[in-house]
Amino acid sequence: MKTNLKILLLGSGGRESALAWKILQSPRTERLFVAPGNAGTHEYNVDLDISDFEAVGQFVEDNGIDMIVVGPEQPLVDGIADFFEDRPVKVIGPGAKGAVLEGSKEFAKEFMFRHAIPTARFMTVTTDTVDEGFAFLESLKPPYVLKADGLAAGKGVIILDSLADAKDTLSEMLGGMFGQASSTVVIEEFLSGTECSVFVVTDGEDYRILPVAKDYKRVGEGDTGPNTGGMGAVSPVPFADEKFMAKVERHIVMPTLQGLRTDDIPYSGFLFIGLMNVAGDPMVIEYNVRMGDPETEVVMPRIKSDIVDLLEGIADKTLALKKLETDPRACVTVMTVSGGYPGHYEKGKEITGLDEAATEGAILFHAGTHRSPLGQTLTSGGRVLACSAYGADMAEAAEKALRAADRVSFEGKYFRHDISDDIRPV
Ligand code: AMP
Ligand code: GLY
Repeated sequence: MKTNLKILLLGSGGRESALAWKILQSPRTERLFVAPGNAGTHEYNVDLDISDFEAVGQFVEDNGIDMIVVGPEQPLVDGIADFFEDRPVKVIGPGAKGAVLEGSKEFAKEFMFRHAIPTARFMTVTTDTVDEGFAFLESLKPPYVLKADGLAAGKGVIILDSLADAKDTLSEMLGGMFGQASSTVVIEEFLSGTECSVFVVTDGEDYRILPVAKDYKRVGEGDTGPNTGGMGAVSPVPFADEKFMAKVERHIVMPTLQGLRTDDIPYSGFLFIGLMNVAGDPMVIEYNVRMGDPETEVVMPRIKSDIVDLLEGIADKTLALKKLETDPRACVTVMTVSGGYPGHYEKGKEITGLDEAATEGAILFHAGTHRSPLGQTLTSGGRVLACSAYGADMAEAAEKALRAADRVSFEGKYFRHDISDDIRPV
């Protein structure tokens, strides 16, 4: 076992900023590189096209990289872990066979049914079976949930109130609304409840459950308006108490990991289980094969243990020997976004007030930011900066995160003021 590691982190969002922050706290990190990174990680950034595995391989060889941490799903679905399988570098994340859990919703649903994991009833439809799809929609109560089978940049789920709209949208999706990703569509029964995000790390045998989080997907306060990549997040989640988490572990985490073994699907890395709390019982909405964003911006701050040690446990199948200690404080992150997001928005706006915001006791995780040649920090995406803060309780954490979000300044800045309000204990 090497004591000090050279680590290459792939990705450029708030999730990767939070992972970088945590990796840099480890005394075992000899050197960190982030590809391509953002303004927040500029000292570590390397200009690499992460979809070009040959180029990543060359960088790994030239720089003696010991470990690759993969932030987003696309390289995993494309087989980056398989590409490096016989090379002397540890890759954190599953191979393409395991990444199908996120890459195909049809596969994920069939997997859950095969292993009796609680999830909504569903039917898979293609252009050849659209009439069966219409009949299935008629058998369901509104609202209707339609999902593109493949990866659609987080936009492939549409929920409709009327049957007529659901039928029209189904036809449009099959007709290429999300390109190839929606040539197969999964129709699902609607689950009513509150969502939360459960993160598991596994080496294929053993596992650890990381702090639970909840994200806020809608752009508007009170959970209104269109879906976004995430406007904020909170951890812990009061309703995900010991009793609820015991059900999650027993009925979802254990059968999922056992199911992967039974089906001969090697799996290691992060597993993100999106859950609905349906009257006290957890049901799976979706699997992702990576950490969540912006959940990572509250989960990493709540992990006390050395993350590099945990990552090594995942790669070396020694997770059983690793401790996971969590911080009892609450953490809330508020995402400041570009005006107009998730619709059209402008980029290239100068961001100021970063130092003032940090003095409010918050940690600022950069997401869509870019450093200009003159050293200015500019906006470069819809989600710009995640302002995370700890508190003795959620109210205190939210207040500190909001104060920081207030201090940051860029033209068109917008953020939600109600992150965590809905789940605060009364
Ligand atoms: P996704 O893009 O897969 O994260 O899904 C977007 C959102 O759609 C989820 O976070 C849920 O809020 C919602 N959703 C997906 N499936 C269902 C379902 N079966 N019942 C209710 N809501 C759902
Ligand atoms: N926050 C949800 C996701 O990362 O997919």
